Amino acid sequence: MTRLFFRRARVVALVVLAAGTASASPVRYDLPEDTAKLKPGPGAAVAEAHCLSCHSPDYIATQPARKGHAFWTAEVTKMIKVYGAPIEEADAKAITDYLTATY
Ligand code: HEC
Repeated sequence: MTRLFFRRARVVALVVLAAGTASASPVRYDLPEDTAKLKPGPGAAVAEAHCLSCHSPDYIATQPARKGHAFWTAEVTKMIKVYGAPIEEADAKAITDYLTATY
């Protein structure tokens, strides 16, 4: 009987201890700066909204410099037709112009 009492008392003590830990003050930490950004310029916001949902901006930034309009047209078309990016025609044009001028 006594043994059972002590066993129960220990369980209660553990539960009380666990509850005490749960109410500790929240941990605060600073997040690193957001790096998922494209270079600034007209159309950057449209491009960020559409082109960073599947992959990082590195896919765009690491292309050889100044590839030109034809390259970016093909790239944006590929994202839409091959990979299924849901981008309206007007936005696709704005993104292509932005990429041609900026990358
Ligand atoms: C629906 C998802 C999706 C969206 C949205 C998307 N991409 Fe991609 N993108 C991919 C996939 C998948 C790959 C290929 C990844 C691989 O091969 O590892 C890729 C690869 C790329 C590459 C590397 C070269 C290549 O052709 O494989 C570039 C550049 C690129 N994307 C640009 C863009 C741009 C610009 C946009 C916005 C217009 C965009 N992506 C939006 C899925 C997407």
